Amino acid sequence: MHSFRYVQNQLQCESVPLTSLVKKYGTPLYVYSQETLTDHFTKLDQALSPLEHLICFAMKSNSNLAVINTLANLGSGFDTVSAGEIQRVIAAGGDPRKCVFAGVGKTEEEIAYALSQDIYCFNVESEAELKRISKVALKHKKIAPVAVRVNPNVDAGTHAKITTGTYANKFGIAFEQIEAVYARAARLPNLRLRGLQMHIGSQLTDVKPFRLAVEKVAPLVARLNAKHGFDFFSIGGGLGIVYNPALESGDPQWWKTAPARKILTPETYAKTLVPLLQPLGLKILLEPGRFLTGNAGALLTRVEYIKRTGKKNFVIVDAAMNDLIRPAFYDSYHQIVPLKRSKGAPISSDVVGPICESGDYFAKDRPLPKVGEGDYLALLSAGAYGSVMGSNYNSRSLAAEVLVKGKKSALVRKRQTTADIWANESVANWK
Ligand SMILES: Cc1ncc(COP(=O)(O)O)c(C=O)c1O
Repeated sequence: MHSFRYVQNQLQCESVPLTSLVKKYGTPLYVYSQETLTDHFTKLDQALSPLEHLICFAMKSNSNLAVINTLANLGSGFDTVSAGEIQRVIAAGGDPRKCVFAGVGKTEEEIAYALSQDIYCFNVESEAELKRISKVALKHKKIAPVAVRVNPNVDAGTHAKITTGTYANKFGIAFEQIEAVYARAARLPNLRLRGLQMHIGSQLTDVKPFRLAVEKVAPLVARLNAKHGFDFFSIGGGLGIVYNPALESGDPQWWKTAPARKILTPETYAKTLVPLLQPLGLKILLEPGRFLTGNAGALLTRVEYIKRTGKKNFVIVDAAMNDLIRPAFYDSYHQIVPLKRSKGAPISSDVVGPICESGDYFAKDRPLPKVGEGDYLALLSAGAYGSVMGSNYNSRSLAAEVLVKGKKSALVRKRQTTADIWANESVANWK
């Protein structure tokens, strides 16, 4: 669902008019809807209710403490990729014992920290890492719960930068090698072989690659479980969301209409996968990121200038690629709508930021309602891989973030001050 909608031509998040938020907090501003976060979590959780399961929110998609706290209160676990993320879970009131720890480059310090917090499991990406975890666990007199990440070599059919389940990328261990790796891991001290994990890619809008991957890997899980006594099988994240309602609805007047609902739903996902997973008799872990947070967030920005060249109508806004890098990085589409809806024919526009890169754009040749200096725009579905990928490029401060619940709004990250940007820097003391 989507909690950003027009009420009397004013864009609202839930019951809060967004113009009131830009007046109060300025722009660029991220706004998150607690209602959408809750709705998406609950729908997925319910769809999977025939299985014993744990949703581990992939917090790399959005690690704001308020977002983590909202999901922790719904019972979520967390898919983490650094000691910093585990610390964030704890700071937000989440349970480290519901954290899985993934990533190809875990340091000894990070492993020791995760062990000290009794995390649920390490998702291991290589044999070298298995040996390292065993060594650190031995040193700290701990038993480390581990699951190896299998690379099922299934093409997720998504953008190359977010495909992770083929042999052309750095993740996991090849399907054919997994059983031998487990046999060797079973001989390493202080490890408990707790399960198997996979993740084939992100923003999957078709259930087929998920089905192919589970069909391929489930028999392997059954064999490994028989030998090693597993607790769980993690099928990773990757559930896609609607970014472009025009493509989904085929409606050329999409900018006038409410966002379409056509998408890979939790129901279709569960209906396809539950029958394949149930016979395993194991707990099923999921690691959704984008599905939980993507549609829950919008980036609000102010129009600074309109620049017309012979060929183009540039709408120059105060947000930039340092606030939302997805268009520059992945050629991603974000629906862009004005906070105040007006009548009139759309104008083909390029929406660009102030950074000195031609890649600093949010839309190209996009039919947009006519806007002028001082108007505000919302880039929708910016809740995942948005603010978390923010940077200080061009000495631009990180954006502020607000959480909305019904009629209430709370500032959940202050805008970074300019002095904060260089707070850890100094001038060398030689001449
Ligand atoms: C191992 C793993 N799990 C889960 C996710 C979350 O993916 P998504 O946000 O597409 O659900 C990722 C994303 O990169 C990942 O690498």
